[in-house]
Amino acid sequence: MPEGVVNGAYLVAATLFILGLRGLASIRGARRGNVLSSLGMLVAIVVTLLDRKIIGFELVAVGLGVGAALGAILALRVHMTAMPQLVAAFNGFGGGASALVAGSAIASGTVMTAATELQAVAAGAVSGLVGALTFAGSAVAWGKLQEVLRWQPSNTSLHHGINGVLAAGALALFALVIVDVSLQWPFWALVAAAAILGVRLTLPIGGADMPVVIALLNSASGLAAAATGFVLSNNVLIIGGALVGASGFILTTLMSRAMNRSVLSVLFGTLGPSEGGPGDEIYEGRIKRTSPEETALLLRDARSVMIVPGYGMAVAQAQHAVRDLSAELERGGVDVKYAIHPVAGRMPGHMNVLLAEADVPYEQLFDLEQLVGTFAQTDVALVIGANDVVNPLAREDPTSPIYGMPILDVDKARTVVVVKRSLSPGFAGIPNSLFAAPNTAMLFGDGEDVLRELIGELKATG
Ligand code: TAP
Repeated sequence: MPEGVVNGAYLVAATLFILGLRGLASIRGARRGNVLSSLGMLVAIVVTLLDRKIIGFELVAVGLGVGAALGAILALRVHMTAMPQLVAAFNGFGGGASALVAGSAIASGTVMTAATELQAVAAGAVSGLVGALTFAGSAVAWGKLQEVLRWQPSNTSLHHGINGVLAAGALALFALVIVDVSLQWPFWALVAAAAILGVRLTLPIGGADMPVVIALLNSASGLAAAATGFVLSNNVLIIGGALVGASGFILTTLMSRAMNRSVLSVLFGTLGPSEGGPGDEIYEGRIKRTSPEETALLLRDARSVMIVPGYGMAVAQAQHAVRDLSAELERGGVDVKYAIHPVAGRMPGHMNVLLAEADVPYEQLFDLEQLVGTFAQTDVALVIGANDVVNPLAREDPTSPIYGMPILDVDKARTVVVVKRSLSPGFAGIPNSLFAAPNTAMLFGDGEDVLRELIGELKATG
């Protein structure tokens, strides 16, 4: 196939990737974005296969069939709460595949005959290093999120020291690959060292910090793919990999900022309850309980209600009940909005995905920036399974581990009702001064059950 045609098709694919990413930036455009990116990938795959004639089409068809079937089964069966594990597995496979493709190019001698030999060999070494590290790190991340891997060594200076030695060894092997690629063993030794390093770097990180790590590994898998693109002189792989690398890195930065953590502190530190912050005594004598009956009356009389979902809504799978509740309130003339914190839940966009699944209109969803000053104008803030993202201690207590994390200023609403099962802490493991605030009432129970009762009461009194 003429080179101009191939590169033209790759340009079309790359444009579709970029338009797809643009679509993914908003909930409304996400579905279209996915379709456009998939179309770009189809163009890239078809043109590459026609151009390179790498293997027989029978084998390609079998590969496509098996991959598509596995992908469909996984996508249909995976629970929303298990999505981070699935993403971890995908990243790992991406990194592993990049390392293996680069390895096979080195083993078959393809890179040695390339016109730009040094560039191709160096790219192959980068792919082996980053790809193997991504594969092994993602496997550990998957194990932690799936809760099959519970071992968590601490980040001691000995642990860091051993990692330093491993990293130095990997760099020496990297140099050896470049000096004499025909030796081959340094490449595979580099892959092994990188894999051990990937395991050792990820093991000490707590399961709850994993989403940040997964975004970082996602970025690394893109880098490995781009490097493999240089090995194969394949432009679309270079562009696609670079896009994944850059967008994964932006996501990592956004997430760590929303949790008020630096990427380095996630990788090399630990997150735990503060030594000096308040304990459960802040609740003593200050907790007011309420009931579905009382809350229904309160909501009936409100003009504006802000629903604030959190991880507990995902656990209770209460998104459909939330939608039914807001429909019932709107029927009574109440203005209903949703306040979405960027790290509510356990993965990026967790709340948006659940609410979209329940057909909550996008126009009702508001993020942190859009909500500045809004809570002060809100009659009732209904917090459903959210905890850390509405904890005023993040604003007020410099000793708190979440101090500085931007929160939703729910406590500024006229009245706050918090739906959760107990006074148990959230992910950060710290008490929440919101529960003891004079304008807060606790509505204890499972999110779904409580909301269904609430809807029943509203219907009965409406
Ligand atoms: P959390 O602070 O984790 O609190 C969730 C609350 O839900 C718990 O306090 C729990 O209280 C309640 N809950 C659990 N099951 C429930 C059920 N069936 N019905 C009702 N309530 C239930 O949640 P959040 O406010 O969404 O904050 C998210 C946290 O995760 C933040 O600290 C964030 O930094 C962290 N994090 C997020 C991400 C991303 S990307 N989203 C990634 C890593 C870490 P009870 O047990 O008393 O019911």
